[in-house]
Amino acid sequence: MTDERFKHALETARLCDILSDSYPINSEKLRLTALSHDIAKDIPKEEMERLIDKYGVVLDEIEKKEKGLWHGPVGALILREEFDIDDQEILDAVKFHSTGKENMSLYGKLIYIADFLETWPDKEFEDIARVDLDACLKIIAGKKISYVLKKGSLLHPRTVSLWNNLCIRKR
Ligand SMILES: [Fe+2]
Ligand SMILES: [Fe+2]
Repeated sequence: MTDERFKHALETARLCDILSDSYPINSEKLRLTALSHDIAKDIPKEEMERLIDKYGVVLDEIEKKEKGLWHGPVGALILREEFDIDDQEILDAVKFHSTGKENMSLYGKLIYIADFLETWPDKEFEDIARVDLDACLKIIAGKKISYVLKKGSLLHPRTVSLWNNLCIRKR
């Protein structure tokens, strides 16, 4: 992990701490998830391909084409295989932190939100997250979707179902 990535991990953990104040979470577990969510991000492509083979990571059609999405699923497998972490909420939060997915656990939602706010800080979004996690999730999912569309990149179906699910729930 590069120094910059390590700083991002620390800062994501700090943000998770702040945002999770009013939610029933295990703060040690949340901190561990935040610190490790990008564990695979700086692994070079060839090594990543080797790990995908070694651990039998199953990538869907979109993930195969978007290398930027590999570090979530690969990171979760590294945590399971090399660090003996078998807590499914930790593994899923790491696995899905880039795309998001519908019905994420509290850990998944907090990592998704803190990961975004670490890069694009926004005090107002932080305040929303503290009282209504799903409302903040929806704003951030919307921002991420706009960003992907603007770039002309592939939009992962899990992100679409996260968005649709949040819209349906608010009705
Ligand atoms: Fe990431
Ligand atoms: Fe991250």
